[in-house]
Amino acid sequence: MRLSVKSSSISGSLTLAIDAKAKKMKSEGMDVVGFGAGEPDFDTPSFIKEAAKEALDRGMTRYTPVAGIAELKEAICHKFKEDNGLDYKPSQIIVSNGAKHSLYNAFQAILNPGDEVIIPSPYWLSYPELVRLADGVPVFVETREEDDFKLKPESLKKAITPKTKALVINSPNNPCGCVYERAELQAIAEIAVENQLFVVSDEVYEAMVYDGLQHISIASLGPEIKDLTIVVNGVSKTYAMTGWRIGYAAAHEDVVKVMSNVQSHTTSNPNSIAQYASLAALTGHKDEVKAMVDEFDKRRKYMVERINSIPGLSCRMPKGAFYVMMNISQVIGKTYKGRRIEGSLSFADALLDAQMVAVVPGVAFGADNFVRLSYAVSLDNIKKGLDRIEAFVRELEG
Ligand SMILES: Cc1ncc(COP(=O)(O)O)c(C=O)c1O
Repeated sequence: MRLSVKSSSISGSLTLAIDAKAKKMKSEGMDVVGFGAGEPDFDTPSFIKEAAKEALDRGMTRYTPVAGIAELKEAICHKFKEDNGLDYKPSQIIVSNGAKHSLYNAFQAILNPGDEVIIPSPYWLSYPELVRLADGVPVFVETREEDDFKLKPESLKKAITPKTKALVINSPNNPCGCVYERAELQAIAEIAVENQLFVVSDEVYEAMVYDGLQHISIASLGPEIKDLTIVVNGVSKTYAMTGWRIGYAAAHEDVVKVMSNVQSHTTSNPNSIAQYASLAALTGHKDEVKAMVDEFDKRRKYMVERINSIPGLSCRMPKGAFYVMMNISQVIGKTYKGRRIEGSLSFADALLDAQMVAVVPGVAFGADNFVRLSYAVSLDNIKKGLDRIEAFVRELEG
């Protein structure tokens, strides 16, 4: 078939493939422990659901302005001011169908064919594909576990070419769990300003930071970097609203105008009811958010301690989001009942078959010595899953 070469080269999500295999095993009655979750295991707070019901009853069922209803954009401006010290006008805000859609619009708005986008690796697997969909070229810059997987200014400088157009910063980070501190962001911002690079700053895990750390938006570090930054955020993770599909972006007015034009011809406005629910989420109390983050924190500590007690496995203490990158390099090359562990994919596959535990192979994020475990899973299941991982590793030979 004469399909689009560009679109045909985009790979499907590997994380979803592992998830599908685990779900199939579950549906066949197997007791699978899934560490693949990319979403909170909590329900959307009830006052948010009530706001959606009210919006339905009030008949808010028609098209809205493409970039979102005025009240929601005002609430987003207020959120940026309160939480991030950022001043935006409503004309600098666009609401989309999830943060993923905001990212899609952002790359469509800024990239010309062949433009390079620097992506620190390990990376969230949609960035390279979103860049390619906009005819850009992803350029990966390796980070090191010893540096908590954070991009170093020297490595960033080395990766810049005359074609570099933008840089992706994701803090708190999926999959690594690292959180950039002010001075680290300042150093990156200086390089971005010096080279006039756009910064796509994905801040969807903003609410999930631990150990007293504070989330900093790179856009808040001065007027020049603010003009170059497209801040992406959303309600999915913070308010356990992944299915509602509301994300948003803030940027220079010229960028937002182009993003809105792109959106006007693809999806028009995001779902009207979900916009009213998001308005309630952003303006309401944060009791459930706090309870959820406290629970994640407990699970994080338990998971990290357990992993580091298993001979052959190790991990760093993540400072944000809800993922742990488990280092499996010491068991690569060993065998499980005659099956050689070649890398993260064969580790994940053998673990699922042998112990019915689903993890995400790091190769999906450009890190084959690691697998990602999500702690958006109950503590009981975390305990059960880690018992099984321990049993699996003890049985490896070689
Ligand atoms: C780093 C990162 N950015 C963006 C998203 C997308 O979020 P949304 O549900 O708002 O599209 C995810 C979801 O997994 C993510 O991990």
